[in-house]
Amino acid sequence: MGEQPAAVAPVRLVRGDITRLSVDAIVNAANESLLGGGGVDGAIHRAAGPGLLAACRLLGGCPTGEARLTSGFRLPARHVIHAVGPVWDGGHRGEASLLSRAYHSCLTLAADAGCRTVAFPAISCGVYGYPIPAACAIALDTITRFVAARPCFSELLLVAFGEDVALAYAELGVPE
Ligand code: APR
Repeated sequence: MGEQPAAVAPVRLVRGDITRLSVDAIVNAANESLLGGGGVDGAIHRAAGPGLLAACRLLGGCPTGEARLTSGFRLPARHVIHAVGPVWDGGHRGEASLLSRAYHSCLTLAADAGCRTVAFPAISCGVYGYPIPAACAIALDTITRFVAARPCFSELLLVAFGEDVALAYAELGVPE
């Protein structure tokens, strides 16, 4: 009996603006207030329109390492999953575990909502200052483990808005 082939995570690198992707869910790199901000958070709120902020106000925030699901409103994506990654503080304050938990929370919410296609920005890799190679490795490892246990997605997109993230994922072997 040969080795069972490892479950191949349906993961692909995509360059560009996550707000343009017509997928079941896009992930937002939010903060604990869920009341918007800059970066991808600002872009998603601008594209989704005021309804998104109104919906987020009702959620009462989200702890770091967790995520919350809303409608996508005016976005092409059906849902937004608001994830709160850790602020990088040198790497000795549980940042790696919190970042992995943030990705895992997104995957669980997406799977439970019946999403088949999900797009992720590089959570914590901007304002929150997480070193990009380490953060991308955590993202890929968390996703790969999740889909091995729960192969429910048809495509998971890792979105690179800048070359730094694209290079990190390419070096990890993520195909475009
Ligand atoms: N599409 C895809 N990715 C994007 C986009 C976009 N339109 N805009 C920015 N990004 C990328 C950044 O280049 C970075 O690689 O998203 C990644 C995450 O960066 P941030 O958006 O700064 O998020 P993060 O580092 O997690 O910090 C979260 O920033 O915007 C505030 O409200 C947010 O307080 C929270 C904090």
